[in-house]
Amino acid sequence: MKIRLAQRGEGKAVASLLEAVLGSTPGGLSGCDLATGIDRLGGRISVPYGHTRALVAADGEEILGMCNLAPAIRLADESAELGPAGQQRLARRVAELDIIAVSPSARRRGVARQLLRTAQTVLAASGCTQLLAQIHQDNAPALAWAAQQGFALPEPGGLIVLRFGGREIGIDALTGGGYRQAHLTLI
Ligand SMILES: CC(C)(COP(=O)(O)OP(=O)(O)OC[C@H]1O[C@@H](n2cnc3c(N)ncnc32)[C@H](O)[C@@H]1OP(=O)(O)O)[C@@H](O)C(=O)NCCC(=O)NCCS
Repeated sequence: MKIRLAQRGEGKAVASLLEAVLGSTPGGLSGCDLATGIDRLGGRISVPYGHTRALVAADGEEILGMCNLAPAIRLADESAELGPAGQQRLARRVAELDIIAVSPSARRRGVARQLLRTAQTVLAASGCTQLLAQIHQDNAPALAWAAQQGFALPEPGGLIVLRFGGREIGIDALTGGGYRQAHLTLI
């Protein structure tokens, strides 16, 4: 199995993976636009504050799993007090694990763990120091996986505190939609 950036034309394979996963994931995930984007542009797609990176775990032609990394766009947008340059820096330092998904038939073989390890290496090399993920509170397997990978998952009512540019940025542990915030320090 190889972990690599998704390539143009792999949208269909990613779409069928996400379809298999979406059908079995409490809380729901969005991924169809992502598959279309990958098909046209490959794994690196421009977004506000930078670009996404979609990594796939491929066994020959077969896509066993994928993850998508993005700058923390909403966090940067909500941090207007930092000014445009500060918001840009924040989004460079803090990434979001937008989605991670492994084919049901390939689970518990370390595919997601290896995707995350590669993601950490790629992000750290570009100066990113923090990774955030939102996981639905009913998605027990994903919460267990994240905890096992070292993500901090503060209890609902708590806060994740990011220190950036001499300031503290607080993120609620539970969002309105029932998603738990997970936080991993990369370096
Ligand atoms: C969460 C998910 C990505 C994990 O993928 P995976 O490749 O099976 O995970 P790994 O093999 O890397 O798991 C590593 C460890 O995480 C924990 N873990 C993974 N799945 C688990 C489960 N269903 N229940 C409890 N612990 C689990 C275990 O500690 C596991 O180690 P072990 O198998 O030696 O016990 C996969 O279940 C999935 O695609 N779920 C649907 C999509 C989703 O919810 N994504 C997360 C939100 S974006």
